[in-house]
Formats: sequence, structure tokens, C-alpha cells
Amino acid sequence: MKPLALITGASSGIGAAFAWELARRGNDLILVARRKDRLDELARSMEQMFGIAAGIVAADLATEEGIVSVEQRIAAAENLELLVNNAGFGTRGLFFHADVAGQDQMHRLHILTTLRLTHAALEGMVRRGKGGVINVSSVAAFWQSPGSVSYCATKCWMNSFTEGLALELKGAGSAVKIQALCPGYTRSGFHDAAGWDRKLIADSSWMSAEEVVSASLAGLERGKLVVVPGWRYRLVVFLMKHAPRWLLGPIAARQQKRLGRG
Ligand SMILES: NC(=O)c1ccc[n+]([C@@H]2O[C@H](COP(=O)([O-])OP(=O)(O)OC[C@H]3O[C@@H](n4cnc5c(N)ncnc54)[C@H](OP(=O)(O)O)[C@@H]3O)[C@@H](O)[C@H]2O)c1
Repeated sequence: MKPLALITGASSGIGAAFAWELARRGNDLILVARRKDRLDELARSMEQMFGIAAGIVAADLATEEGIVSVEQRIAAAENLELLVNNAGFGTRGLFFHADVAGQDQMHRLHILTTLRLTHAALEGMVRRGKGGVINVSSVAAFWQSPGSVSYCATKCWMNSFTEGLALELKGAGSAVKIQALCPGYTRSGFHDAAGWDRKLIADSSWMSAEEVVSASLAGLERGKLVVVPGWRYRLVVFLMKHAPRWLLGPIAARQQKRLGRG
């Protein structure tokens, strides 16, 4: 039986790039997202190209039914070796002006879905003594930003959750690996979906989804807990972690003005 990887948010961007790379490496796949037609097309192409088996689950992971349908697939998959919690989205606008439904949905998707699917996957992985979980967070986990308050807060939760689990796994002597993947600006459907103007970001700031995935999988092999792809973003994260708190407010305000995200 081939190793199996389950990827949420596999219909585009970073999730699709994970799927292509894992298929190329000979993994069977379960692809999860809402757009069934895109998942079908991707799954068939990968099966034809790499001779793997690719199943799909078309589900809205911000809903209880969606989460349960994926939990059930995970529970039934004895060969699950990798879970990638990648489905996510950004919003525009100040928290107190934004539609609360979008904020609520983001918390469910980034936090509750990650929590439930990770729990479902770790039960089998820890019992079998192998496997890995990648939680796709963001460099936004390391600061706060007006206009993206829920985004930064939920990604910060993802990092904290992942770091806590790593301690538990290590303490239990488990070989199961876990990673918080923290990309910076990555070319994908993300910015269009959030209504953000990509032209406001310098060309040199963008990475490809393939570069992000390659850094993540290399990091997982080495057992790296927090992976920030790209030296520029590693430098930014280092500076933001060590900058005095009083400096973060003016930096965030300047960035908000520049990007028009108020
Ligand atoms: N792009 C960046 O600059 C960047 C930077 C840092 C972190 N990230 C993170 O990377 C992850 C992937 O984003 P991306 O950049 O690849 O953007 P993307 O191309 O927009 O992909 C987002 C994926 O999530 C899925 N998704 C969204 N809401 C969902 C829901 N309710 N239920 C199920 N699936 C859902 C989408 O599929 P459907 O629409 O078909 O459901 C899509 O496959 C996100 O967690 C994002 O926060 C992105």
C-alpha cells in the first residue's frame, strides 16, 4: 500500500502545489476543498501522470458536516502518513466594520478545522508510530496588522498549537513529526479571493507555491518545527520577534496605509 497524504484546500495555490509534489513522490492522495470540479480535474491528471490513486472530498470545512466528512476519511485511512491543514483565506477591512460571518468562518476554518483534523490524524499516526502533520500558518502569525486582525490571531493560534503538540509528541517519545509552515506573499488565488491588490506588493516579495512546498517538505524531513520559506521572510520574522513592542504599532500603521487595508 502506498503512503497516503490528505491535503485541505487542494483545489488551488499552495494546497495544489503540495498535491502535485506529493503525487510526484508516489503518494496516494485525498484532496479536500469546496470546488468539486477542480478537485476532480486535479485528481484525474495526477492519477494519469504519476500512477497514484487520488480521492476527493468536496466539503466546506467551515461547517460541522464538512469537518465530520473529512474526520471519517481520516479515521478509515490506515496508511495516512501526512495531513496538510492548508485550507484558509484572508478578509479585507477593519474587524469592527467587517461582516462578522466572515470572521466567524475564518476562526472555524483556521482553528476548529485544524484542531479536529489534527486530532483525527494523530490518533492513528501515534498508534502506528509514524506520520506527519503540516499546519499552513503564515508569517502573519508573528505580528498583528490592522485590517487582518482575525487572520493574524488565527495563524498565531496555529503556531502555538503546533509548538504545543510538538512538545507532547516529543515527551511521549513519538516519531510523528509536526510543522507550522509560515509563508510570506505567495502567488496563489489567496489575494484575489480576499480582494487585495497584488500590484501593491513588490515583485521581489513574491514566492511561488512550489518554492514554499519544497521548503516545507525539506523541513519536515529534517524535523523542523517552524518553517519560514525564503531568507527575506526569515529576516523579517527575526526582526519582528526582536523589535520593541512600541515600534510595532507605527510599523503596522504604515503598512496599513500603504496597502489600503483599513
Ligand atoms: N498566498 C499567500 O500569500 C499566503 C501567505 C501565507 C499563508 N498562506 C496560507 O496558505 C494557505 C493556502 O492559501 P493559498 O495561498 O494557496 O490560497 P488559495 O489559492 O486561495 O487556496 C485556498 C484553498 O483553501 C480552500 N478553502 C477556502 N475556504 C475553504 C472552506 N471553507 N472549506 C474548504 N476549503 C476551503 C480553497 O478551495 P475552495 O475555494 O475550492 O474551497 C483553496 O483550495 C492558507 O491557509 C493561507 O492562509 C497564504
